[in-house]
Amino acid sequence: MAQPTLISADGPAGSSAPVDFPVPPPLTSHGPARIIAMANQKGGVGKTTTTINLGAALAEYGRRVLLVDFDPQGAASAGLGINANELDRTIYTLIMQPRSDVREIIEETSVPGLHVVPANIDLSAAEVQLVNEVAREQALARVLRPVVDSYDVILIDCQPSLGLLTVNALSAAHGVIIPLEAEFFALRGVALLMETIEKVCDRLNPRLVLDGILATMYDGRTLHSREVLARVREGFGAKVFDTVISRTVKFPDASVATEPITSYAPSHSGAEAYRRLARELVARGDVA
Ligand SMILES: Nc1ncnc2c1ncn2[C@@H]1O[C@H](COP(=O)(O)OP(=O)(O)OP(=O)(O)O)[C@@H](O)[C@H]1O
Ligand SMILES: [Mg+2]
Repeated sequence: MAQPTLISADGPAGSSAPVDFPVPPPLTSHGPARIIAMANQKGGVGKTTTTINLGAALAEYGRRVLLVDFDPQGAASAGLGINANELDRTIYTLIMQPRSDVREIIEETSVPGLHVVPANIDLSAAEVQLVNEVAREQALARVLRPVVDSYDVILIDCQPSLGLLTVNALSAAHGVIIPLEAEFFALRGVALLMETIEKVCDRLNPRLVLDGILATMYDGRTLHSREVLARVREGFGAKVFDTVISRTVKFPDASVATEPITSYAPSHSGAEAYRRLARELVARGDVA
């Protein structure tokens, strides 16, 4: 790495003192957005938690952030206090009606600079309905086009599957972040996910890159967690973010309070971890 003083070679799995990333300088103008898909077909690994809290942390640093809830469960919408079940128009409307406009569906959140395109269970029908459409893999890219220049980063919260919705997210994105739970079976399925990313890159979206693998729900007190993290770093090297997200009940607590942890418990280590991830992304050049 060209910046050894900024980026440590190893994180908590190693023994070196933690090195921080600089606070991103303010932006004087906004956009175009870098689009990042949060993907892992394994359920419950921290995709939604990372989308919400990384988004909120980047917004705190003055970035204009759009979150796209692309899971019919609507957890990202709910986690930000949006009752998407009461909405007539959601991401589903945008996907299925080519003349609808994403700008009319974007909702503000309690965090300044953090906006969201909500989803609800309607989206589960899109997977089937899209199959017969022309350019069915490009529907989300089309939806996002009108707002790409208005945001600095767009984060897409994928559902836990490698189906057509996730392929749409990968087709629309510049980068992918893979949250990985620091537990024994975490690596199962990652090869298949990588294969899917490569296929999308070959056939649909040549600009797509793997931005990084994020270890989540890490418990540094257990040898098990440390071993899993060491193995992940061995396998994926520099692709693994230096920042690691620890396991803490503050995350589910924040979801219940329908707030990002950065505002629910601003000085908690979990909030600081997502701020650090935001700084790391900017330091790596993945986000402006
Ligand atoms: N670092 C963490 N420590 C403790 N709990 C966490 C952490 N990250 C997420 N959680 C909790 O674990 C559960 C699953 O997290 P989350 O919803 O972010 O995963 P997901 O990958 O989006 O799941 P799904 O695949 O179902 O969409 C949630 O209850 C969340 O609050
Ligand atoms: Mg989720």
